Amino acid sequence: MCGIVCGISKRNVLPILTEGLSRLEYRGYDSAGLAYSSKKSVTVVKNQGRVADLVNKVSLKGIETNQAIAHTRWATHGVPSEKNAHPQFSKNKIYVVHNGIIENHNNLRDNLISEGYKFISATDTETIAHLVHFFMEKGLDFESASLKAISKLQGTYALGIMDKDVPDLIIGARNQSPLVIGQGYDENFLASDIMALAPVTNKFKFMEDGQICFLEKEQVQVVNSNGLKAKLKTQEIDSHSYSNDLGGYNHFMEKEIFEQPKAIENSLEGRLGKNETQEGIFGAGFEAAVKDVANIQIIACGTSFHAARIFEYWSHKFLGINCRVDYGSEYKYQEPVKSKNTLLVTISQSGETADTLSSLKFAKKTGDPLTLTICNVANSSLCRESDFTLLTNAGPEIGVASTKAFVTQLACLNLLLLTLMREHKKLPSARKKITSALKDLPKHVGATLKKLDAYQATAKLLFKRNSALFLGRGLYFPIAREGALKLKEISYIHAEAYPAGELKHGPLALIDKDMPVIALVPDNEHLDKIQSNIEEVAARKGKVITIGPLGRTKIAKEGGHIKIPKTLDLLNPIICVVPLQLISYYTALLKGTDVDKPRNLAKSVTVE
Ligand code: F6R
Repeated sequence: MCGIVCGISKRNVLPILTEGLSRLEYRGYDSAGLAYSSKKSVTVVKNQGRVADLVNKVSLKGIETNQAIAHTRWATHGVPSEKNAHPQFSKNKIYVVHNGIIENHNNLRDNLISEGYKFISATDTETIAHLVHFFMEKGLDFESASLKAISKLQGTYALGIMDKDVPDLIIGARNQSPLVIGQGYDENFLASDIMALAPVTNKFKFMEDGQICFLEKEQVQVVNSNGLKAKLKTQEIDSHSYSNDLGGYNHFMEKEIFEQPKAIENSLEGRLGKNETQEGIFGAGFEAAVKDVANIQIIACGTSFHAARIFEYWSHKFLGINCRVDYGSEYKYQEPVKSKNTLLVTISQSGETADTLSSLKFAKKTGDPLTLTICNVANSSLCRESDFTLLTNAGPEIGVASTKAFVTQLACLNLLLLTLMREHKKLPSARKKITSALKDLPKHVGATLKKLDAYQATAKLLFKRNSALFLGRGLYFPIAREGALKLKEISYIHAEAYPAGELKHGPLALIDKDMPVIALVPDNEHLDKIQSNIEEVAARKGKVITIGPLGRTKIAKEGGHIKIPKTLDLLNPIICVVPLQLISYYTALLKGTDVDKPRNLAKSVTVE
């Protein structure tokens, strides 16, 4: 989604900001722009399309500037176009970059039009620029006019604002959209994501909702919405871990798939003892807090939602605790019935997904006191809103399609399962077995990454098809859904996942010789039933590819079979997702789609 990077320095900030924009590309965007001040005037350069084209436009001019604001836009209000790209401006004086959605922009726009303001874009952001200008016309200075304008905004925003006539000042503001201040020596920066600033600083202040900051070269002031000075801790963060280097791979998705064994190791490191999880890995007091937990509610979106659905099975089977899973975008509308002793868990790669975040806030307001987040980004909004955090430690995930985030979420959810089992005194010998099998998971995932021929051959079967069906039962059904999601998002092939038993209740009508079906075949009590489902498809000439821990000879009539390493039944689905990721990846390569930045999608979905 949209990205912001702004800077003010004694040196030329343009190369820093353009590099920052490139580092934000992974979030997804359709246009980019920047405004820089030089010799008492401000120049805006924007274009629809890639940051590289914007950089060409800018660097051709050989410009130097000490102050600029820059943006990548993912269209919400108004089509992707140069006009709608940010910065938006008012009367060639006030310049604004904005992430989020201003919900009352129609009212504000009508009032401003009646005051004589002309709008040239379809964006909600242009309203902010005119509003600041309007209050300056009424006699306020830039700071006061910005404070006043911000107080009129309803909705979500991260903002960077600049006034042509006030050099050496950039104003930032945050409400439910991330914004971080990066501090340097005689320079300060503002960004929606520390990824943008990793090459220039390791000192960050994470702004909180309602805060406004005043950025100058030598200092930064932060105030709360009441205008009173706010204190924000400066945190030192190892910027090297924010590398955006492909490291010899062709795509970030490919790199991240192959990083999975190491990523799982990092998720588990220091968290597993000989037979149990270590105490305190979720934060001090977690064990005592979860002793009486009688219900688990999980909220997540997309791939993270699929990880949650797997935990649901684990919770019922190994804890006997009822677990409910809701989409972040739906939870609030279900009028959830609150139960005592509920542990509310959010799962998110980015920690900034607006749907998940707003549901967490809603849950806290409506009486869920105990909150945990399983998240890949330290200091993200979900981490800060939750009582307890378990970081997945997967390292930055840049490819829009989540891969290593998913397997590390599952590793962490397994740590949660083991911890709850211990605190609820459940199945000590099973705990021991699971702990030991979990330690072997990186090895099995590594072995699964070696069967590239099989994945490429399956991709050849898929890439000319319009649709594909994924089947699974029990624990493998969420994996089937994850496989279908991967295929549709990066190859644009329509893919659906069904619980295999549901086939005969409708989707069987879709089966003919042109319908590829990927069936996930476990080595458990569901085997016979899924065998029958495979035969139902084969009898209608559907092309079935099977994936699972059993050998080929044990599977009913099928087109091709991919054998994965066998481990405990509860962990085998984690291994099973790896072939699905790679099949999607190779299918997308054959189709020639933009693997890392699939059309219309954003990495961090910061609007509801
Ligand atoms: C799919 C994908 C999305 C995200 C979803 C939630 O590959 O990446 O479905 O999983 O937008 O994002 P997070 O996990 O950041 O909350």
